[in-house]
Amino acid sequence: MKILSGIQPSGQLHIGNYFGMMLPMIRNMEKGELYAFIVNLHALTSVHDKEKLSAGTLEAAADFIALGLDPDRCIFWVQGDVPEVTELTWILSTLTSMGLLERCHSYKDKVAKGIAPSHGLFSYPVLMAADILLYQAEIVPVGKDQKQHLEVARDIGMRFNHIFGETFVIPEPAIEESVATVPGLDGQKMSKSYDNTIPIFLEGKKLKKKVMAIQTDSTPVEEPKDPDACNLYNMFKLFAPAERLTEVRKLYVEGGAAYGYIKQELVKLIDEYFKEARAKRAELLQDKESLKKILANGALKAREKAAPTLDLVRQRVGLKY
Ligand code: ADP
Ligand code: TRP
Repeated sequence: MKILSGIQPSGQLHIGNYFGMMLPMIRNMEKGELYAFIVNLHALTSVHDKEKLSAGTLEAAADFIALGLDPDRCIFWVQGDVPEVTELTWILSTLTSMGLLERCHSYKDKVAKGIAPSHGLFSYPVLMAADILLYQAEIVPVGKDQKQHLEVARDIGMRFNHIFGETFVIPEPAIEESVATVPGLDGQKMSKSYDNTIPIFLEGKKLKKKVMAIQTDSTPVEEPKDPDACNLYNMFKLFAPAERLTEVRKLYVEGGAAYGYIKQELVKLIDEYFKEARAKRAELLQDKESLKKILANGALKAREKAAPTLDLVRQRVGLKY
């Protein structure tokens, strides 16, 4: 089974990225042929800063490896190192209706948040469809926010198959319900574009400051509260051991849950949870040349996989003469 997913290097990766996409991908190393990549071409739709994009790309790669992705047991590369994907994007864009893209929430949300409405941002889902279809991926683990983009990829793939004959595998999304949408500090979806994240590798005072900024209501400590409606609880449950979670849940339901105290406990839990990965990440970033070699090797493997599909597509549409 081919399992594929990508992540943008458009800012520090956060715990929403980790639980929604990175951890499921890491676990999937056992389950099939895994394709993981850093989508720097997509990140160009929101980052126009050379240093930020190039450093962010290497950091995202180090993050993924430090958290447990083993480049020897999967294909791990940087999207822009495989030029086949941009050619496929163009071909697919000629059969993507405007209406399909106009319906995408993500585009509208991003524009509402102040990202410039460029043509690249609008056609972002077509590049994503090419990412997926080029490797004939069957399963795509993502957070809930990407569900619609997956539908667009399926639509485009089916349309191509219908017009030009069976060519692409039609992918299925894999969304883990329990972590489909990790809330941000403000209770909205945690997202790099919303400035409401807890970056995975934050530590010390900076981590504490973020956790303390998690928004909570003003219900007094002794009064009962609904844990599932509480942003803080929903984050706490990602890190707390089962027994402790049961205790805290009881405090919410019966009264006695003190937000400040729970926040302090959460700081320690997050710090501990990522401790080992943090050390590994620092090590990886100290030797950037080795990291680049890993990615170059991954890109070679990805291109080998991409070439036959693109060749077939070129034949099917008549670009081969
Ligand atoms: P961001 O919104 O922070 O820019 P990306 O769009 O790069 O994140 O998302 C990378 C992956 O992480 C996607 O699969 C996405 O669905 C997942 N993801 C992002 N934010 C969250 C979240 N808050 N909860 C669960 N998954 C998320
Ligand atoms: N659009 C995805 C996101 O913002 C990233 C992405 C690009 C992706 N190409 C992909 C995810 C292909 C899965 C498969 O999170």
